[in-house]
Amino acid sequence: MNGFEIGIIGGTGGIGKWFAAFFRGEGYPVHVVGRREGMPIPELARRCRVVIVSVPIAATLDVIRLVGPHLPEDSLLMDFTSLKEEPVRAMLEATTAEVIGSHPLFGPDCPSLDGQNVVLCPGRGNRWLEWTERLFTKNGARVTVTTPAEHDRMMSLVQGLTHLETILMGLTLRDSGVAPSALDAFSTPNFRTKRAIVEKVFGASPELYAGLLAGNPNMQGILEIYERNLSLLKELVLNHDAEGLAALLKKQ
Ligand SMILES: NC(=O)c1ccc[n+]([C@@H]2O[C@H](COP(=O)([O-])OP(=O)(O)OC[C@H]3O[C@@H](n4cnc5c(N)ncnc54)[C@H](OP(=O)(O)O)[C@@H]3O)[C@@H](O)[C@H]2O)c1
Repeated sequence: MNGFEIGIIGGTGGIGKWFAAFFRGEGYPVHVVGRREGMPIPELARRCRVVIVSVPIAATLDVIRLVGPHLPEDSLLMDFTSLKEEPVRAMLEATTAEVIGSHPLFGPDCPSLDGQNVVLCPGRGNRWLEWTERLFTKNGARVTVTTPAEHDRMMSLVQGLTHLETILMGLTLRDSGVAPSALDAFSTPNFRTKRAIVEKVFGASPELYAGLLAGNPNMQGILEIYERNLSLLKELVLNHDAEGLAALLKKQ
């Protein structure tokens, strides 16, 4: 399969822009659409055999419902959303075209696909799945094919827990009453690394992280384990029980 056009809704920024460059590098003509840029969505759907939705999580379902009905059966509707259950369900409902939920597990600052993880959640059809898998694998990606539910379960740990920790650190620093600049002369390399991550989450695109946490259906279980462990740590620390704390860390 070659010589067809690819449309990326949300291809003017972020990970969509990254993939626009990637597909162009692979020889495909790519059309990008943003809120103020690009061709009307029905025209994009008519021209492009592959249409990818790569807009912020909060806008994803509306955009899927907008583009889905315009796609012919032999096209592919794919998304890059960091959560998969709701978008894949919405794509299957909105279109008769082939459907793949995709999650590139890296950000737009990544130099290439080489060595990166990509998860694919097939929704309908096999033809485009082969094309997608082959293209990503050829460029060095590690492609995992799984269900949307399994993807979201794994993401509650990989992204949910990670960002929860970062946000908690940021909020605690903010509420501590110590000015960030006052910490500079006291900072360790470890602290500086963690603070840089906090600044990225609070600064660059807080909506992305907020969407990942609030939209993942598995966060309740993670939060319950987290709260249990936090209470345990609190008790050990406030009781000055260094031995108990060390024993907890050693426990397999
Ligand atoms: N960034 C990452 O590291 C990353 C990694 C993997 C997956 N994802 C997923 O990729 C998706 C996009 O995230 P992102 O971080 O790339 O977002 P982003 O940097 O905010 O870019 C979003 C793009 O969507 C467009 N857009 C916003 N609202 C739109 C709307 N209502 N209709 C059409 N276009 C709209 C924006 O275009 P204009 O500003 O030109 O309107 C922009 O091109 C999300 O679902 C996210 O979960 C992100």
